[in-house]
Amino acid sequence: KTVDWEAEAAEKGGYDHYMLKEIHEQPGALRQTLSGRVDEVAGDVDLDVDLSSEVLADVEEIQLVACGTSYHAGLYARRLLEEFADVRVTVEVASEYEFTGGRDPWETLVVAVTQSGETADTLSAMRKAAKAGARTLAVTNTVGSTAAREADDALYIRAGPEIGVAATKTFAAQVTALSLLTVHIGRRRGALSSERASNLLENLRGLPGAVQQLLDASERLEAVASEYVDEDAYFFVGRKLGAAVALEGALKLKEIAYVHAEGFPSGELKHGTLALVTEDTPVLTVLTEGARPKETLNNVKEVESRGAPVIGFSSYDAAANYLDVEIPIPDLGALEPLVANVGLQLFAYHVANELGRAIDKPRNLAKSVTVE
Ligand code: AGP
Repeated sequence: KTVDWEAEAAEKGGYDHYMLKEIHEQPGALRQTLSGRVDEVAGDVDLDVDLSSEVLADVEEIQLVACGTSYHAGLYARRLLEEFADVRVTVEVASEYEFTGGRDPWETLVVAVTQSGETADTLSAMRKAAKAGARTLAVTNTVGSTAAREADDALYIRAGPEIGVAATKTFAAQVTALSLLTVHIGRRRGALSSERASNLLENLRGLPGAVQQLLDASERLEAVASEYVDEDAYFFVGRKLGAAVALEGALKLKEIAYVHAEGFPSGELKHGTLALVTEDTPVLTVLTEGARPKETLNNVKEVESRGAPVIGFSSYDAAANYLDVEIPIPDLGALEPLVANVGLQLFAYHVANELGRAIDKPRNLAKSVTVE
């Protein structure tokens, strides 16, 4: 028993939980995701996938299919692909794909985003698309997984093994890999200039360091979590790329802390949820690049005037006056929300830890869901 315990403690590398270890592994994981794939001078990437300019010229629509956290990575990627590759994109929860998916397969690229590569819902969606004749690509962490084997192509996110049930470093690595895919597609479709691509790639190069900056603020987030533990509910809001991260922040908190949390685009607050906002419902806000800061700040003021504590992850100086807690996010263009997400992971972790939850193995959940 003692030996088991010691072996496990050693595997956790001094952290109390695998989840915390994996959160801290993010800078290294992201360097792996990027390694050898980026040519910043040429403004291009070198991905080992069979998606040539000719193949991509026929693609009218990209359909991303995924579940849970991987679905949120898909939502993030949708905005990147729209903005940098000028292509029509849909994102579908994999278990819903069977109701609409598989139309116009000859002009569709279906991208299955799955850390494990074994999620039954995602495999079913991918199989439906392939059967209809669509081209498929698996974006996965697991070499030799079913998704990687069955898809026409696989793009590996190279995050290393993730033991905690909560996906942390793999979300960051998925978004990073999908950013590279965006450059690949944008360049080959002639929609993305080398200058704009270089700019995005420069931000990707800065990503591990920016994530480290958030990790260095870990104690601050622990203090914030202990101040706001035990509230009635938590709302997570953001716009554009920040909206994807808001959903992810809420999922993480639900999953490991067992508290009610909801994420949605900031603009939606006033269309219903505002009725639930009180001084006992902290609102976590992602205020990052390109996401209409003026309007988002108006949303923040609305919740603040109802007494809700506002915790902001912000790259805007102007926001500070309206926030009860401000966690600064370094300037990093389209990657800013991904950096903010690291702060949300730490917040969820520390709330769950204060509540004494089984962080690495939350009740009722499995790391890989192999039933539909
Ligand atoms: C994330 O924290 C969850 N454990 C869960 O939502 C997970 O992302 C989902 O089950 C999809 O898994 P996959 O990426 O392995 O397909």
